[in-house]
Amino acid sequence: MSTIDDNASLPAGSPVPATVAPAAPAPVEPIPAAAPAQAAPPVPPVMTGKPAKTRYDGLAMGFHWLLAILIICTFSVGWYMADLPFSMTRLKLFNWHKWAGVTILALSALRLLWRLSHRPPADLPMPGWQKFGAHAVHWLLYAAFFAVPLSGWAYSSAAGFPIVWFGVLQLPDFVSPDKALAATLKEVHGLFAYGLGLLVLAHLGAVVKHVVIDKDGLLQRMLPGRA
Ligand code: HEM
Repeated sequence: MSTIDDNASLPAGSPVPATVAPAAPAPVEPIPAAAPAQAAPPVPPVMTGKPAKTRYDGLAMGFHWLLAILIICTFSVGWYMADLPFSMTRLKLFNWHKWAGVTILALSALRLLWRLSHRPPADLPMPGWQKFGAHAVHWLLYAAFFAVPLSGWAYSSAAGFPIVWFGVLQLPDFVSPDKALAATLKEVHGLFAYGLGLLVLAHLGAVVKHVVIDKDGLLQRMLPGRA
């Protein structure tokens, strides 16, 4: 019986014999029913090629230590200058205190942006209440980084002393001069500042416990060096 392949042996131009049978349709493979869509299994961090972070990144450390020094110094100057008699020294210290406060505010805004866009290292193993306490203190500290300088700025504006940052950049007054409001804002600024002081003490107490009792390497996570 002839098949299509037989035509290959016909001389060129020969009419195709009428007896040539049409090609049989190729058998159609049954298409298996589509498998139900499955969610891709989560890729463990080790398979992404990136090892899990065990310490803060360089910029987070830079912000931490720069702000820690600035905040401790500004707090100490604020405490010292408040009871000084009127003098050039008092005026100078007030200005330095305000300039440092605005610098802390600006750096804290950058730090918060960095923190919200970069994951910190995973918590070290510790009881749930300690993890909760550490996170609560960290976020309250972040809140205080804004509340303390902003209340000081508002107090200065209400008292009628606009802030000229490092004697160069005049900052807007977001509160009009008002003696009664200034007295209230002075109290508020002081309360926020003492609140920040207490948070720092709680933070330092926790760090000392991790270093002295737990010896779990917590401090190394915030220090430059090898992982
Ligand atoms: C000698 C002083 C200080 C030491 C030894 C210290 C140490 C540390 C350490 C080890 C961590 C990381 C904790 C962890 O791995 O979970 C940390 C985080 C932090 N510290 Fe300090 N600290 C000091 C002072 C301060 C001060 C003065 C402030 C602020 C006023 C501060 C604010 C913070 C904040 C907000 C975090 C959380 C960082 C984040 O997750 O974004 N620290 N500190």
